[in-house]
Amino acid sequence: MDNNDKKTMLSGIQPSGDLHLGNYLGAVKNWAALADEFNCYYFMADLHSLTVRQDPKELRRRSVTQLAQYIACGLDPEKNTLFIQSHVHEHAELGWILNCYTMFGELSRMTQFKDKCAKNADNINGGLFTYPSLMAADILLYQPDYVPVGEDQKQHCELTRDVAIRFNNIYGETFKVPEPYIPKVGARIMSLGTPTSKMSKSDPQGCVFIMDKPEDIARKFRRAVTDSDTERCVHYDPQNKPGVSNLMSIYSSVTGKTFEQIEREFDGQGYGAFKPAVGDAVIEAMRPIREEAERMIADKAYLKDVYTEGARRASHVAAKTLRRVYKKVGLVEKPF
Ligand code: TYM
Repeated sequence: MDNNDKKTMLSGIQPSGDLHLGNYLGAVKNWAALADEFNCYYFMADLHSLTVRQDPKELRRRSVTQLAQYIACGLDPEKNTLFIQSHVHEHAELGWILNCYTMFGELSRMTQFKDKCAKNADNINGGLFTYPSLMAADILLYQPDYVPVGEDQKQHCELTRDVAIRFNNIYGETFKVPEPYIPKVGARIMSLGTPTSKMSKSDPQGCVFIMDKPEDIARKFRRAVTDSDTERCVHYDPQNKPGVSNLMSIYSSVTGKTFEQIEREFDGQGYGAFKPAVGDAVIEAMRPIREEAERMIADKAYLKDVYTEGARRASHVAAKTLRRVYKKVGLVEKPF
């Protein structure tokens, strides 16, 4: 049960692939440390994944293995409510209501919608368009204070705030207006192959997955695109040296070193020394996570217990909010 003296955090990740380094550094890594200070809700956003065609068996498998990866990244199920989005039907229901308070123009401006349309030209479905209303529902059901996400989700969080404010203005105080909580370093990890685009599972060569084997991680970093600078190789300058700056962000995130410390560490050295060092640091950071996730994936009964208890706790909170919303908008109270 929630502790009312604590503030609330909530976030989710689509189980449309294994977690990658961007998901980890931009989001999950920061979640584990929040568990004592906040009431925390984290979920597998399986309904969102349906906006892009999925193999049903794979989606089902990944929704559960993602839970194992969450726990391996340090999310203790005793301290965090971990659940599968589709197990809490209030998400879809509030999503519909909020669709009616989200404007066509607002949805049309979403960068993720435009990107996904470009990548899935043969499947530009309604769900892809109204995705942000469902995301607003995911968030507002739990009345969180903060939504810990990477930079790319800031726009969706801002739309959530606008929808919450609009709803509150019409019906009186109903939703808490949440703020995005974005890390200073790691909020936008770029592809290792095309450092001007964000790291994403749709580009497997430029993407490091937390379940990748050490030799694959090493190879991906050895091949990472840098630049032809021979004067001041390891120097943070995202505008002119996007590849190197991205590697520095990754190195800084996993080692805790500042950019100045990293520049000093590799002063006078070329990329031949720097790239494998970043790869090694990532391998060491990922090793315990991968091993723990592999162990847990084998324990299906345990994972089921965790997501069952998570859905029970999440449903309790979500149902309360949805009841208030239904009443406010004028729906007749359900008699049973
Ligand atoms: P998704 O599944 O694309 O990504 C999950 C989280 O990982 C962050 N992220 C990154 N951070 C840094 N660098 C990157 N290259 C990178 N790629 C992804 C994302 O910012 C996100 O925090 N719509 C959401 C899922 C969602 C959600 C929600 C999030 C559904 N409902 C409610 C928060 C609250 C999404 O597609 O994230």
